[in-house]
Amino acid sequence: MTKIPSGIRGGVITGYGTALPPTVLTNDDLAARMDTSDEWIRERTGILSRHVGGTTSGLSIESGRKAIEMAGLDPSEIDALVLATTTPDRTVPATSATVQNGLGLRCGAFDVNAACSGFVYSLVVAHGLLAMGARKILVIGTDTLARITDWEDRNTAILFADGSAAVVLEAAENGGQLLAWNLDADGSAEEFLFAEIGGHIKMDGKEVFRRAVRIMCDSAEKSMADAGLTADDIAMVIPHQANIRIIQAACDRLGIPEERTATVLHYTGNTSSASIPLALVDALRSDRIKKGDNILLVGFGAGMTAASAIIKWGGQ
Ligand code: COA
Repeated sequence: MTKIPSGIRGGVITGYGTALPPTVLTNDDLAARMDTSDEWIRERTGILSRHVGGTTSGLSIESGRKAIEMAGLDPSEIDALVLATTTPDRTVPATSATVQNGLGLRCGAFDVNAACSGFVYSLVVAHGLLAMGARKILVIGTDTLARITDWEDRNTAILFADGSAAVVLEAAENGGQLLAWNLDADGSAEEFLFAEIGGHIKMDGKEVFRRAVRIMCDSAEKSMADAGLTADDIAMVIPHQANIRIIQAACDRLGIPEERTATVLHYTGNTSSASIPLALVDALRSDRIKKGDNILLVGFGAGMTAASAIIKWGGQ
């Protein structure tokens, strides 16, 4: 059980921003390079095109700057930067250090690597910092998976891409937005999805698919139970954008109609740590989320990890 104790200071999202590199790779572009087709990729994954290029720090600085601007803050007011990424620009230092400098922040900064669950992990960690006295936190999810993708391997090249999205979280004394959360990991499944240092992503797609639905739903069900909510109370699901069939199967099992799901994977592909915040911002920009809505963020990734969080949009 991870019930949030009453009286703990929470937070609300007051700004957000995104960054996608300008280069777009369509399924036909991939089909020109390897033995695949637009039809196969659409049907099996739901992906039509993806953005590739840039660095993790560069995309993070772009999305982070937009989020800070939208929140109406000066960079010097940010108390901590949490950067979710599984593709740092360098082994050392953490990419968050580069981003901290690029944005003109004057605060602590660290990376969180929980693969595609990284943004939800970071959001939960950021709420912990708010409870411990921080007032304004920048949480960014960024990945540049194109750099570790083997562009000759049709098993993985059709899925992975680059992107970034950021949110500013500000302390809220009278009940924040986070109703419940769940973080999970099963390191015994690491061989199904990994990249050696300097190497490319290797994946057992079938096994990942099979486990993904189960671990996403388990995590989501725990969060819903802790929040005292049922599927009917969830206004919008923001799932990790890996494969439309995984999203459909998870929604089916959770009993949440697919219309209540945010998807961007048709134009982003799988951007790992960026995928959930990109889908969240897309839903906000298209006015699909209203104040008071219960939003379920849920992801899974290499590790294998899983994570979910339920937020009441605008705070309690
Ligand atoms: N283009 C065309 N054909 C392809 C192909 C491609 N890119 N990849 C595989 N195929 C072929 C296979 O060779 C196989 O042919 P066969 O029936 O003649 O043997 C057929 O298509 C089916 O392959 P299979 O591997 O069973 O496909 P699938 O339905 O499992 O889809 C994935 C493959 C990778 C799309 C799917 O398993 C998946 O999305 N898994 C989860 C991956 C994931 O989310 N990873 C990130 C986690 S964060």
